[in-house]
Amino acid sequence: MNISEVERLGRSVRYNFYDIFKTVQARPQGGLSIKVRRDRPAETRQSGIYVWHHPHWGYFYVGIAAADNFTERWNKHIQKLLDQCTSAQQMANWQSFAQKFAAAGYGIDDLKDITLRFYPRPNPNSPTFKQELSDIETRIVRAINPMCNREYDPARPSATRIPPTRPITESSGYSLQGSFTHDLTTSKVWLMQELARIQPRMGTVYVLGSWFGNISLYMHLLPLLKTSKIINVERDRNMLAQSRRMLAHIGADNVEHMLADANDLDYRQLGPDGVVINTSLTDMPGRAWFDNIPVGTTVVMQARDHDPGRQFHSTQDILDRYPLTNVEYQGKIELRDPETEYNRFMVIGTK
Ligand SMILES: C[S@@+](CC[C@H](N)C(=O)[O-])C[C@H]1O[C@@H](n2cnc3c(N)ncnc32)[C@H](O)[C@@H]1O
Repeated sequence: MNISEVERLGRSVRYNFYDIFKTVQARPQGGLSIKVRRDRPAETRQSGIYVWHHPHWGYFYVGIAAADNFTERWNKHIQKLLDQCTSAQQMANWQSFAQKFAAAGYGIDDLKDITLRFYPRPNPNSPTFKQELSDIETRIVRAINPMCNREYDPARPSATRIPPTRPITESSGYSLQGSFTHDLTTSKVWLMQELARIQPRMGTVYVLGSWFGNISLYMHLLPLLKTSKIINVERDRNMLAQSRRMLAHIGADNVEHMLADANDLDYRQLGPDGVVINTSLTDMPGRAWFDNIPVGTTVVMQARDHDPGRQFHSTQDILDRYPLTNVEYQGKIELRDPETEYNRFMVIGTK
């Protein structure tokens, strides 16, 4: 059952959960703190139809917003999904799904894998607009029968799956093991080799979206580059903690772990010969991380194609979005991840 088989749905865009939300955290006193990004895509402030999807659970909810009330509605869906309703009223189907989600070992950390497929429908200011949206919603719900919608019929096939339990060894995605696949290791070694040709001695290096500290691990184990300090910037507390443990284990004592949003940095530790590395362009919406980098800094950027995140098809795509005054290196390598072949692009230069 495929959503694209529903006729006349028109253009859709797909957003990663954290393209729209800034943070979702459990409050110590109970309930959730949910913040949306100020720089969320403009389209998500307009009217349209949206479908929530998780790679293991499939499509699980279809909804509409006839005005700029997506973020309010999506805020409530998060409360329902995690079954922590404070400002939302829990619904029977959501609750049943939430209980299955929790029982299979999923929770707040899995929000990052959710994507929102969105069909923008500008409001032509017609009195029948809301009804038209609602009719389309009904057609989608009938076609894919998602488990969280009120109309869900358990007797019919559904686009929502129930995985028996949380897969422990994911081949890709955000798992520790998935961060050391052959293609990702090759990409990091490529980065170190090219950077070593340009700037083998560096001051402080900021690694944005540092994941499990992979680059800092390689930089320690394969000392092609000399650096006085590495700052791993990551917004995921658990990944950062894992990174800290691994780097301590190998005796890397010049690495700082910073729990922060890369878009909020002031680069105060950069100093002379500092370098900023961002290999997560496809995963990182917003451009404050780049705008805040002091002019004259060496910046290394990597992005790839065939990715559900933001699309990049060339090094020029990187430079168009993040212009440099002097490009020292740009190149492409062909790789294969556990799912597909793809191209990775890299640019090194001075901002
Ligand atoms: C999937 S990983 C890295 C992927 C990249 N292909 C690589 O190999 O380096 C992306 C990381 O960036 C982090 N991230 C995304 N946006 C961020 C932000 N605004 N600030 C800090 N970390 C961020 C995510 O939590 C994740 O750990």
